[in-house]
Amino acid sequence: MVEPLGVCVGEGSPSHVSFVARSMPRLGEYVVLHFDGMRVLGMVESITRGSISISGDILSPEVVERILSFEGQEEYIKAEVRLLGEVDSLTMPRVPPPPGARVYRADAETLRGIFGRGDIKLGKLLSHPDVEVYIDANRMITRHLAILAITGAGKSNTVSVIVDGILKLKGMPVIFDMHSEYVNAEFSGGVKRILPRLNPAYLLYGELKRLVNIDEKAFIQERYLREAHTRAMERVRSSSSGLIDEMLAYLEEIYSSDSIASNEKNSVSGVIGKLMDFREKYGDILDEHAPELVEQFELGMANVVDLGNVDEDYADVIVSHVLRKLLHRRKLRQLPPAFCILEEAHILAPAHRPTLSKYWIDRIAREGRKFGIGLCLVSQRPKSLDPNSLSQANNAIIMRLVEPSDQRHVQQASERLSDDLLAQLSSLNIGEAVVLGLMTRLPALVKIDRFKGKLSGGDPDIIGEWKERRREAEEALKRAQEEVEELYSGME
Ligand SMILES: Nc1ncnc2c1ncn2[C@@H]1O[C@H](COP(=O)(O)OP(=O)(O)O)[C@@H](O)[C@H]1O
Ligand SMILES: [Mg+2]
Repeated sequence: MVEPLGVCVGEGSPSHVSFVARSMPRLGEYVVLHFDGMRVLGMVESITRGSISISGDILSPEVVERILSFEGQEEYIKAEVRLLGEVDSLTMPRVPPPPGARVYRADAETLRGIFGRGDIKLGKLLSHPDVEVYIDANRMITRHLAILAITGAGKSNTVSVIVDGILKLKGMPVIFDMHSEYVNAEFSGGVKRILPRLNPAYLLYGELKRLVNIDEKAFIQERYLREAHTRAMERVRSSSSGLIDEMLAYLEEIYSSDSIASNEKNSVSGVIGKLMDFREKYGDILDEHAPELVEQFELGMANVVDLGNVDEDYADVIVSHVLRKLLHRRKLRQLPPAFCILEEAHILAPAHRPTLSKYWIDRIAREGRKFGIGLCLVSQRPKSLDPNSLSQANNAIIMRLVEPSDQRHVQQASERLSDDLLAQLSSLNIGEAVVLGLMTRLPALVKIDRFKGKLSGGDPDIIGEWKERRREAEEALKRAQEEVEELYSGME
């Protein structure tokens, strides 16, 4: 017979109970309570340690020393447990555990029965390193996921573990890679790098307007841009010329006609200037012959849309464009289900500012489930992230978060994050996470696996780079000296 870890004391409820322990439990550790013929699983959420004789109202160190000199000073350890449900069914008990109910450490076999089911291996239980944690891929994709933590806590590593897991299931992950971090990663199935080349003819008018940067209040300019766009779209269909060329040709024609008033003339030349700036600025990434981006996606590969070299406006246009097309194609069942990972989600879907992507992120967050598109929002600044989209993410992997305002924001969006788990967020180490939501049967503290294939993000090796620079400089100096010596020896 295994010795119990402790026994329940005081008042309990069907969801919480305290127990006094014989040995130190660990925070986040799972325990099993035996009462009324049931075995109920719980998680240790807080621990206190004290001594009745050395109580908090003693104000003199000498008094404490004197008490300590007596034999038999007994410490106590008291822990709070949140009940999670009966071991087999995970249904909540209807009655509280009685005082005196025995509390046992959960054995690995019981925990494996709970966390071993699923399709993607995420890591191991922090409190039980011999128990592997799997997540349910279907539930992760249909109910979306948020990965939130400060920089360096392990978000990209987690993304990689998940992407690799999806690839082992022969699925279709799509990563919007804001820092070209994943383009060279070694995923099973390989990487399909997708250049952010856009064919202007596939852009919606709104997407084009955003890039051409027409001022919100410049109504006349807006009208001319729209007119030029409509005309040019008609012409592009029946000729091989480019959209922007056609738009410029149309506007120049208007500009030089006699019937136009002089103030309108200024507006037209303004639009011409903006269109030319646009072509200049985005020349490298606009391509009148580029195929539609979503046509390039491949099942079984990590589809990495490389946004490392484009600015935020352009990234916004690309992301919204891809999401819009993806939703459209999925409605027509023309593409396989996809899991879209958005790094820097607070830039693409900010809380207090409209962007093109925000609209589509929010729509997919709401409708994606029906059509088999999952979203993964990755952010180091949860409080700047659109709360509507965040609250649609029914799964969360939350790693180290220090700022109270970020923590509160996360808690509001995720009703399953208790105050006690919240309090742990600032003390998590790299790679340690609170995993919540429908993709796991119970909330868990997990040490995420380290992704085996290398990533190019990570922490830069600053000292190594200094050393390398120094070595280069020394070599250059040596070479220069040798050249000088040679020169002198030639003169002798
Ligand atoms: N689960 C983990 N186990 C071991 N090392 C990790 C783990 N997660 C992250 N790291 C290391 O920590 C560093 C930062 O991780 P990264 O995933 O890039 O963080 P973030 O994307 O949150 O900024 C990397 O060098 C990575 O190798
Ligand atoms: Mg990262």
